[in-house]
Amino acid sequence: MTSAVKHTPSGRVFNFSAGPGCLPEEVIRQAQADLWDIDGTGVGILEHSHRGKTFDKVLAEAEENCRKIGNIPANYKVMFLTGGATSQNFMVPANILPDDGVAAFLTTGHWSERTWEEVKVYSSKCYEAWDGRPTKHTCCPADSEISYKDKPVYVHMCSNNTLYGTQWRHADGTIRLPKVPDGVPLVCDMSSDMYSRPTDVTKFGLIYAGAQKNVGVAGTTLVIAREDLLKPVRKLPTMLRYDVQAKDQSRHNTPPVFAIYLSGLVFKWILKQGGLSAVHAANMAKAKFIYDVLDSTPFYKGHARPDSRSLMNITFRCPTEALDDAFVKEAQKNGMDQLKGHRNTGGMRASTYNAMPAEGCKALADFMQDFAKRNG
Ligand SMILES: Cc1ncc(COP(=O)(O)O)c(C=O)c1O
Repeated sequence: MTSAVKHTPSGRVFNFSAGPGCLPEEVIRQAQADLWDIDGTGVGILEHSHRGKTFDKVLAEAEENCRKIGNIPANYKVMFLTGGATSQNFMVPANILPDDGVAAFLTTGHWSERTWEEVKVYSSKCYEAWDGRPTKHTCCPADSEISYKDKPVYVHMCSNNTLYGTQWRHADGTIRLPKVPDGVPLVCDMSSDMYSRPTDVTKFGLIYAGAQKNVGVAGTTLVIAREDLLKPVRKLPTMLRYDVQAKDQSRHNTPPVFAIYLSGLVFKWILKQGGLSAVHAANMAKAKFIYDVLDSTPFYKGHARPDSRSLMNITFRCPTEALDDAFVKEAQKNGMDQLKGHRNTGGMRASTYNAMPAEGCKALADFMQDFAKRNG
């Protein structure tokens, strides 16, 4: 770490990483203490048996608070799995898509492209009901742009497109759901906006989210699934079965204890903020600092169409690539790190997950204005 980098009063920089993303300061401080000794047991969280009383409590509280935040009804199971969100690309079809069955895909970005590619392992009959590639994934489609053909067993969507900076949203930032044929479950990759805004879980058959952006650290994937989707449609290895994972409360084998524990701390933090409405209001205000600059400064060009702008990943460019590079370097010297856009998209990406403080977004907005003035 070079001393030329400006740190915040807490001794850190504003971390705009797309994932693993920043964590709330109090979560990190608590984890520091619990690594040494959790609950006065004289043993750290990393060293406790996953079947002992201490971890029983950690897991039970994590699930209870996860349910409380999302108001998750009893007919939905909450699982903390491994293999990242990417493993859900095979786990979902393995469990719920019969051989050569039909599922429909709303391809709105890089991660949903990958989901679409992977389903081909299970069936050649699936189709994309929306393909955002020709328009470079600048938006999430209107219902009139979605075309269903054969009735699918499920529809897959990705609520927030981390690379392109688009999100399924209404003008007030709440989630906008695509039309889905009657009675067909919606499966949602919520990795980069899980619990960032009010979420009616009952609108979905299954939600999954790699924890490392908004609900914890890498190592666990939160899966929330409706009971009727748990029983696999084919013979599967035990670890791949949702029904087994749900019955064994994510402990069929040694689970990612630290990652589950950390998600538990983040859930407590979300509740302390006032739950999803409060977190959403803060996220709207944070994103506004940055989008206001994009709208008022022709120097920058945003990637997302305004009606699909993500509150979590804000993507934009300077007039030239050389200026993009200079922007990222100068921002870093000024205590704002990880602003370089993904290699597929270039430009910049500011990830403003729940844990990014408003001061970070304000600092970035001020810097953007200053940089444009000096280089425009
Ligand atoms: C929307 C989305 N889906 C899936 C993934 C892949 O997640 P993982 O690395 O946990 O497999 C990511 C990672 O950035 C993501 O942003």
